[in-house]
Amino acid sequence: TQTLDLAVIPGDGIGPEVTAEALKVLRKALDGEDVEVKETHYSLGAQHWLTTGETLPDDVLDDLRGRDAILFGAVGAAPGDTRIPSGLIERELLLKLRFTLDHCVNLRPSRLYAGVGSPLAAPGEIDFIVVREGTEGPYVGNGGALRTGTPHEIATEVSVNTAYGVERVVRDAFRRASQRLRKKVTLVHKHNVLVHAGHLWKRTVEAVAAEFPEVEHDYLHVDAATIFLVTDPGRFDVIVTDNLFGDILTDLAGAVTGGIGLAASGNINLDRAAPSMFEPVHGSAPDIAGQQKADPTAAILSAALLLDHVGQGDAVFAAAAARIEAAVKADVEFRIVGEQRTTAHIGDAIAARL
Ligand code: NAD
Ligand code: IPM
Ligand code: MN
Repeated sequence: TQTLDLAVIPGDGIGPEVTAEALKVLRKALDGEDVEVKETHYSLGAQHWLTTGETLPDDVLDDLRGRDAILFGAVGAAPGDTRIPSGLIERELLLKLRFTLDHCVNLRPSRLYAGVGSPLAAPGEIDFIVVREGTEGPYVGNGGALRTGTPHEIATEVSVNTAYGVERVVRDAFRRASQRLRKKVTLVHKHNVLVHAGHLWKRTVEAVAAEFPEVEHDYLHVDAATIFLVTDPGRFDVIVTDNLFGDILTDLAGAVTGGIGLAASGNINLDRAAPSMFEPVHGSAPDIAGQQKADPTAAILSAALLLDHVGQGDAVFAAAAARIEAAVKADVEFRIVGEQRTTAHIGDAIAARL
């Protein structure tokens, strides 16, 4: 019997609601297989901080390191909640996990499933992945403020891009592209303005491309990329980009493929030296939290990405992941516009198709 030792961080808002459904589906997908699923739940997030003052204690982080993978819901307070400084939980919990566990590749697939309504008039076929850099860029917190609150205030957020960090992500993007049908990488950046980082990314893509002669590559400035994501999303196969551009593009990608409630992601530690973490692209959605209104599909598809990752090379896990994707595909195909299924109802329906 194999053991799948999962860390579960449900978090805040709709996080616990969608995570419950993801676990329900994951367990069902492995039902009857020779795999024992072990879950350890961690109370972390904005609510946890309010009651304990803790964000991510060292002993919890150490404990997480020993697990096979982390299933993460969502964290964060409502924008109007003045009890919690904006960015505290995001920086000290979510980003700290991504940075400490070296989640250098933030993998965000975008696919328009049959039957799913896109806000685009002519979406065409959409099936691409975004390989978003996950541990560098402006997210590192390298910034500061001078003369705060005065008319002479200066605030900086410095984007850090290292050859090491850029290269491993670019190589991963090419590797993934080489295994796909269209074998195409699009670098998205802004090297006409951000010349230092932009040129590092551009040179790296050109160097790595030489190792993958079967993969074609092109380039778009990020502003133009947003145009094509709306007018011609079918042109994309693998997008590789930095942490901040990737954040913005993947919410847009989620929206054009039927809504943020379907967008899954994996924060990948490429050398498997620490557990990778899987989470929906969306946040804690305070506006609908606690009402069973959230779509758990993004969390469920994140669980499929988790199985695919932990089971790399193992047919049992790969098959379970594929079954989840097929069940989601079948469920979304017959969704009725304006239907009122609860979060649990959608999870049950997908589980029932396994
Ligand atoms: P959000 O993604 O939480 O919500 C944006 C909009 O999408 C809201 O109208 C929400 O109701 C809707 N939505 C989100 N997920 C949905 C789902 N599964 N089904 C149906 N509708 C859904 O983004 P926000 O409002 O900018 O952020 C809220 C909080 O979440 C903030 O504190 C933010 O920092 C945090 N956040 C956390 C994560 C994360 O934990 N990974 C990601 C993004 C935002
Ligand atoms: C995401 C979120 C996070 C990010 C925030 C909450 C730190 O928006 O996962 O997309 O910017 O990466
Ligand atoms: Mn985001």
